[in-house]
Amino acid sequence: MDYKKVISSMTLEEKASLCSGRDFWHTKAVKSQKVPEIMVSDGPHGLRKQPKSPDHLGAFESIKAVCFPAACATAASFDRALLGKMGKAIGTECQSESVATILGPAVNIKRSPLCGRNFEYFSEDPLLTTELAGAFIKGVQSKNVGTSIKHFTANNQETRRLTVSVKVDERTMREIYLAAFEGAIKNAAPWTVMCSYNRINGLHASENKKYLTDILRDEWGFDGVVMSDWGAVNDRSKGLAAGLDLEMPGSYGVNDREIIEAVQNGTLSEKAVDKAVERILRWIDKYELKKQKDTKWDKDADHELAGKIEEESAILLKNSDGILPLDKNDTIAVIGRFAKAPRYQGGGSSHINSYKVTSFMDAAKGKGHDLIYADGYELDKDEIDRTLITKAVNAAKKSDVAVVFAGLPDSFESEGYDRNDMKLPENQNVLISEILKVQPNVVVVLHNGSAVEMPWESEVKGIFEMYLGGQNVGTAEYDLLFGKVNPCGRLPETFPKRLEDNPSYLNFPGYMDTVDYSEGVFVGYRYYDSRDMEVLFPFGHGLSYTTFKYSNLKVSKRKIKDTDTLTVSVDVSNIGRMAGKEVVQIYVAPPRNGIPRPVHELKAFEKVSLRAGETKTVTFELGSRAFSYWDKELQDWYVAGGDYVIEAGSSSRDIKYTKKVNIESTIKRVPVITENTCFGDLMGDPKVADILRPLVNSYLHIDKKEKTKASDAANDKMYQEILRFAPLRGVISLGDGEYDHEKLAKVITALQSKLTK
Ligand code: BGC
Repeated sequence: MDYKKVISSMTLEEKASLCSGRDFWHTKAVKSQKVPEIMVSDGPHGLRKQPKSPDHLGAFESIKAVCFPAACATAASFDRALLGKMGKAIGTECQSESVATILGPAVNIKRSPLCGRNFEYFSEDPLLTTELAGAFIKGVQSKNVGTSIKHFTANNQETRRLTVSVKVDERTMREIYLAAFEGAIKNAAPWTVMCSYNRINGLHASENKKYLTDILRDEWGFDGVVMSDWGAVNDRSKGLAAGLDLEMPGSYGVNDREIIEAVQNGTLSEKAVDKAVERILRWIDKYELKKQKDTKWDKDADHELAGKIEEESAILLKNSDGILPLDKNDTIAVIGRFAKAPRYQGGGSSHINSYKVTSFMDAAKGKGHDLIYADGYELDKDEIDRTLITKAVNAAKKSDVAVVFAGLPDSFESEGYDRNDMKLPENQNVLISEILKVQPNVVVVLHNGSAVEMPWESEVKGIFEMYLGGQNVGTAEYDLLFGKVNPCGRLPETFPKRLEDNPSYLNFPGYMDTVDYSEGVFVGYRYYDSRDMEVLFPFGHGLSYTTFKYSNLKVSKRKIKDTDTLTVSVDVSNIGRMAGKEVVQIYVAPPRNGIPRPVHELKAFEKVSLRAGETKTVTFELGSRAFSYWDKELQDWYVAGGDYVIEAGSSSRDIKYTKKVNIESTIKRVPVITENTCFGDLMGDPKVADILRPLVNSYLHIDKKEKTKASDAANDKMYQEILRFAPLRGVISLGDGEYDHEKLAKVITALQSKLTK
């Protein structure tokens, strides 16, 4: 299509109309130009195609499809290839169902465990998030179906999500909330980006030029369509000028008319409209040109794949006395409704109409096990049902081991609202503690989208975190519990001991329409580890039925420049008797040089598959970004010179080996010297020592000839400390009378020129 030509023959009305949806899921066709409409659908972990009665909260029927594990679970796989596979499967489903773009992945950071939508999000860590999201995008788009990475940006709660203003500083935005999008957008080039509902520092994300154009397009090179979240448009023409191309789902023509009027009265340039139209046309074309009319998808194959993905994602959090895998010959009490009707997905727009659900009990059926089932608790009710508990306790008594299927019921966790606390329903906690009174061998299998408190953690012997594991979660549970498959998931978020320990605790969800991200970059383990706090389970943690050993951590150089790439390698051996997968994690600890930075941050990871007895060398490349922080003054990433520690480990708290590397910064930073510059900021620089000395002497009343101080009340060390935070201008009022403003100005000029050279 010759886009320029098509646009020049479109009327303003046609152009404006293309900038909003025809209905919930379709763009508008432009008949005069033979431009067809295309369809989008949720997303992200399956296809929610609504042929009729559309809505954005999952209330009405959609086609029967396959519900894959949600991002909370797939993040735990730490496996890019796996996400790619899942993306391909969903891409094929979209092709067969004529869906041009799937609305996902959702990459918002898990700032608080309470966000009702955490189940749809990957992690508290931006690197893990962006890497996995990128792999998913590549997978979907390899089938010539677009993705819509969402919700751009700083959308980390459901409370007042359409109006809340996030107060967040620039460095935190860059290092945490934007970083979750950045890698995926730069490396995987999603066809579309969905802007979020909220405001950022007062301005709606849907009309925020800084994010929608300056950063997203100009800096990161994104060349696709930006669409609004459903109903996120606040001021249509301001949004369009800021870079919001498509309003979804549309506003029955109201905002199209606003665009036309704005162009006619000169407040919006027609060029801005043309740009949006061109991007939308290119997107439609991209899909239409390679549309595959006869693609078929295989529901059963995808159901099986959903189970396999969950097997690679579930996390074995605890396994004492080798309670797991379960012994096939044991009598096993299977307790909890989730064993028969698992919670495997969250509520809201991502809700899939699953064509089939396999529970643990389904998967175990006919396999010759001695299982005694008991309901244990009611769902969606906190009240304790003593009859159900008694039956469960009796089942546990008669068995060798009790496996409790617990977790958060649907109503506890959904799009649209946040959780009130981090607790499991009281009836489940009481059930577990009552079972523990009669049965020492207890395993808990959890189904939830984000961290929960576990008051019984020290007493139970085994814990599996399944997260929301998709419609075939039961097969994964069966295979993992009985050791047919070796667990290899790792926690993509810290489980704190209590909600009060979470860094956002005092500022979540904010007051009225403002939430202050005052914890800054100290999100998740960046906070817990910097404070050396005890946590329930650390970021990156996960056990296996085999044992891994690390050795031979190597770095390519001990001294590098900030422009170099550092190669890091480490050997990992499987010293157990079963094949397994280890997630090797590389953290970087920056120098302690006064800049507030987390004690360490994840900068690379790799999942490796090892046969029993096998050793592999895992290699990583760390570029400058791995060492840098966002510097507001430079408006760029900056690597401070100094010693950095490279840490290799299997969780943020289980660092096996470290190596120190010195980095020289090639960026020359010249501070601007004023009368308010502190002595301490200059004293470490030998270049200015001679110029500074007379000033110091005057300030400290040191007699030039005798070299004596005016008083003995303080020693040299104390003077040094006092000077650190004393501004140069102090010499005028507190010094020995040698300096006035004019004389000081000359010294400042001399200092500045010496530093600039
Ligand atoms: C959600 C989006 C979703 C859209 C369409 C909105 O409420 O925030 O994630 O894609 O609805 O269903």
